Amino acid sequence: MNDPEKPDLKNGVSLASIPDGGKLLGAVDGEEVLLVRRGTKVFGVGAYCTHYHGPLADGLVVDDEVRCPWHHACFSLRTGEALRAPALDPIQCWHVEQAGERVFVGEKLPVAGPKRVSTQQHPTSVIIVGGGAAGLAAADMLRREGYSGPLTMISADSTPPCDRPNLSKDFLAGAAPEEWIPLRPLEWYSEQKIDLVLNSSVTSLDTKQKKIGTEGAKIYEYGALLLATGADPVKLPLESSTFSQISYLRSFTDSKAIIAKATAAKQVLVVGASFIGLEVAASLRSRGIAVHVVAPERVPMERILGARVGAFIRSLHESHGVVFHLGETVRHVEGHKVTLTSGHTIEADFVVLGVGVQPSIALAEQAGLKIDRGIAVDEYLQTSAPGVFAAGDAARWPDLLTRERIRVEHWVVAERQGQTAAKNILGARQRFEAVPFFWSQHYDVPINYVGHAEKWDTIDIDGDIEKRDCSVSYERDGRTLAVATIFRDLESLEAESGMERLIRGQ
Ligand SMILES: Cc1cc2nc3c(=O)[nH]c(=O)nc-3n(C[C@H](O)[C@H](O)[C@H](O)COP(=O)(O)OP(=O)(O)OC[C@H]3O[C@@H](n4cnc5c(N)ncnc54)[C@H](O)[C@@H]3O)c2cc1C
Ligand code: FES
Repeated sequence: MNDPEKPDLKNGVSLASIPDGGKLLGAVDGEEVLLVRRGTKVFGVGAYCTHYHGPLADGLVVDDEVRCPWHHACFSLRTGEALRAPALDPIQCWHVEQAGERVFVGEKLPVAGPKRVSTQQHPTSVIIVGGGAAGLAAADMLRREGYSGPLTMISADSTPPCDRPNLSKDFLAGAAPEEWIPLRPLEWYSEQKIDLVLNSSVTSLDTKQKKIGTEGAKIYEYGALLLATGADPVKLPLESSTFSQISYLRSFTDSKAIIAKATAAKQVLVVGASFIGLEVAASLRSRGIAVHVVAPERVPMERILGARVGAFIRSLHESHGVVFHLGETVRHVEGHKVTLTSGHTIEADFVVLGVGVQPSIALAEQAGLKIDRGIAVDEYLQTSAPGVFAAGDAARWPDLLTRERIRVEHWVVAERQGQTAAKNILGARQRFEAVPFFWSQHYDVPINYVGHAEKWDTIDIDGDIEKRDCSVSYERDGRTLAVATIFRDLESLEAESGMERLIRGQ
């Protein structure tokens, strides 16, 4: 049954009812279909994003693509392909027919398979070191682009690549089941002929012999190599009578361990008032646990989002019962008693440390690759060694928007870099041009951020932060470097698209 409020597209709609460049949401056999008009051509595609089901009707159409309002995934209107992460799977396309001034939607079109390409330029084998965002997106793209040779992914993690952002949000809050966390089911790796090696740390890399070695002394030869080793949580030298009281959060295993402790906990101390710390605070509050947050800064996230947004985030958390201890840090943990630098003590069943990460570059350093507070790569994501690429949290690349060499810790950037690196491994010579994007979720308030501003001279606020309806621009020398939005998804997409045009010189 079709929703009576949505036109039945089998019966047709008039072309004039879809503005040029605009969209119309209808239904076919009970399934929602989005019509998108580009001049006289009309496309019919699935109405929801394959990442987290974002409504594409609220997204942005750019050329022959539709972009998701929630986390900026991008789909081809012609083929449905998920052109850019975080979505990896295509949306459905429908056959659209035009008869005079009317547009009819017919049958579903077959989903496009891997590209048929000449494999002459392809490496003899590809090894990906790292089973995270960049590694999985690269493996997926290698197969999509028609690479059919040996493909091995070696990961120090004990679980297959997982949806890391969820580990501090819905999964930790108890609102997302465990089945949602793996990015791909295990069968996918065998279907795609990807040799997934877990619990294995790569400890040596010889770029001349094109060989890597693991902790278990296993040697692998490669034709091309991707280093997607991510980042490790910064550890604090805290004295504690029981080490198990201190938790870090990076892996699926870490998140499950925190949940196990949370089931019996009444009060928790979070050290660090940045994204992970505060997302953990929000998730534990939704489990009814009392949460204290201690951090050295005076305003949470001021360095990244500025004082006004930082103050809003603080008051948002306080309105949910979080108690802040700002301008100080932890001196000592003894049993359940945590002593702060001010001498103040807090009782906590356990402590979660979210005090930042550092790029995992030991392997690249050992191999003599060029290091620049991360693994240095060029605009094609190639390292200083031929045939060796790097992507994700570990890589520092020349950002085409700020014209600075930057390294960020964003899920979407890591995945998109993995995708670009995969294409370049196959000889595409494609520059990494994507504008950095991240999102963060605190209770029911999402924050989206496009661009990159480490320093700014002006912050321009459009709307009202406290009313959760704003677009905040970070500007330097008259240029907008980044835009943070709350409940203004279309503006975030438009800002991203505008920055892309600047990069391309349009
Ligand atoms: C809890 C949490 C929540 C987050 N939420 C968000 C969010 O909301 N939005 C956002 O934009 N970003 C978020 N991030 C950041 C995001 O997850 C990272 O930017 C992203 O995972 C980086 O991807 P990556 O592939 O570079 O590294 P990772 O995903 O960390 O993967 C690195 C992989 O390399 C492996 N590895 C490392 N060294 C070796 C070695 N020597 N041998 C073998 N394997 C090795 C690791 O085991 C791991 O599998 C979050 C991160 C965490 C931890
Ligand atoms: S729901 Fe579409 S990108 Fe996340």
